[in-house]
Amino acid sequence: MPPPWLRLLPYGSTLTVFDERTGRDVALSADGPGDLGSHPRLARSGFLAPLDPALLIPHRKLHPLFLPFEGALLCPDPSRHPPGGWSWRTIDLAPRGLALWNAVDGRLTVPQVAAQAGVPVAEALVRLGELAAWPVQAVLLRPDRVRPDHPSLARVVGPPREPNLREAHMYTGGATTLGDFHDAIDDAGTRFDLAETTLAHALALPHPALGGQRYGERLCDRLLQSSVRCVEVGGGTGELGAAFLDRARGRGLTPSYLRIDRSPALLALQAEKMPGTAGIVGDALALALPDGTVDLLLANEIIADLPSTRTASGWSNDGALQFVGEVARVLAAGGTAFLSEFGSEADEPEETEQLDHPEVSIRFETLVQRARALGLQARLVPIAEFLSLDLDAHWLWRPHLGAVRHLDQRAGRAPTAGRAWTPATLPRPEHAEGLRWVTLRDEGPGPLPGRTWALLLQR
Ligand SMILES: C[S@@+](CC[C@H](N)C(=O)[O-])C[C@H]1O[C@@H](n2cnc3c(N)ncnc32)[C@H](O)[C@@H]1O
Repeated sequence: MPPPWLRLLPYGSTLTVFDERTGRDVALSADGPGDLGSHPRLARSGFLAPLDPALLIPHRKLHPLFLPFEGALLCPDPSRHPPGGWSWRTIDLAPRGLALWNAVDGRLTVPQVAAQAGVPVAEALVRLGELAAWPVQAVLLRPDRVRPDHPSLARVVGPPREPNLREAHMYTGGATTLGDFHDAIDDAGTRFDLAETTLAHALALPHPALGGQRYGERLCDRLLQSSVRCVEVGGGTGELGAAFLDRARGRGLTPSYLRIDRSPALLALQAEKMPGTAGIVGDALALALPDGTVDLLLANEIIADLPSTRTASGWSNDGALQFVGEVARVLAAGGTAFLSEFGSEADEPEETEQLDHPEVSIRFETLVQRARALGLQARLVPIAEFLSLDLDAHWLWRPHLGAVRHLDQRAGRAPTAGRAWTPATLPRPEHAEGLRWVTLRDEGPGPLPGRTWALLLQR
């Protein structure tokens, strides 16, 4: 019989053993030991031994936010992990719990924290244990000090994130087909803030990672040399194009700009953002353009939307490959195309499960081969390198965007948008302590720049 303070949580192929007294956890293989009581890993880690408060150091975990006006912690609910991220709830800290929380600094031991808070050691151990227990996970009691960004402090022990629902029309045979999905988009104004935050959308407001520029402005600096014929395919909200054109005008350039998008709703939004530009509802796989007529083609974070086919050996990015063929057809001599997307050079493509529609990551080496076979020059560059994105700049840690949205919902406000917020730009009506700002190498509101590539094609 395992001791009553151990909670056993089967998740997929692993069994997590959670110590309710300390908030510490160990993952064992699911077929695991029949007799946990004699498992050497548990014995070694002190999970089975009685607690000696003098040896324990309480650490604040990274998820909880402190709401000073309520004397409460805002914590993720570990019992469910919906596709949009954890749901959040407040945990009341009675005055003595609050005194203990304030004294926890990751250095003092339980008796020292208790003394500072004016609480008896035995009571401190119970209260801190409640904060460490599985339903709360605000505190970790460890026999050692750990660095402030130690992974155990950023872990919520709970089920893996649930996959988002899929509808039958999103697949035909073994392929993803998103035509009906894009035709029916009716949340154009909020889609990229809430359901599908692209890197370009996250960085559509001026950001320190771009030296104060917007994504579309930096793209203009990298790609536009003269007033040429531009076409943007899959322009989303139109913010990228609007910033691109603002920057072009600022540099004294007046390119023509044609927008092609499958979604009528998004195309209409683009028209609002880019007055004076023309737009066509159309398919990237059959561009309604004559051969050899485009000088600069932009396709930012669209090719993972194009059909991919599941074969016996994995996914194949058939739609993206066909699109490369269309790009080769429409590019004028000397013309350039910029295709960005999440994926990798050579890894197996995989379907994302969190989005509300199936997107498949891109294996770029196949696109490079196709482009070269079609007579184009092809260069694959990490997006951060191409845009000189400063990956040491900061944005709001993804779980805390969820926490901020919980506060919005409670206050009856519209949810905070999916942007690369910094401490200077995040709209923050409530006082909440503990917001975590991470570098662009860590999880923010949109895809990781480190997984996003720019494919440059030239005729
Ligand atoms: C993920 S969004 C990217 C939006 C924007 N470029 C950005 O980076 O934020 C994909 C865009 O491509 C459009 N799109 C998807 N499939 C398409 C297709 N087959 N033909 C044309 N546009 C398509 C969508 O309507 C949407 O505007």
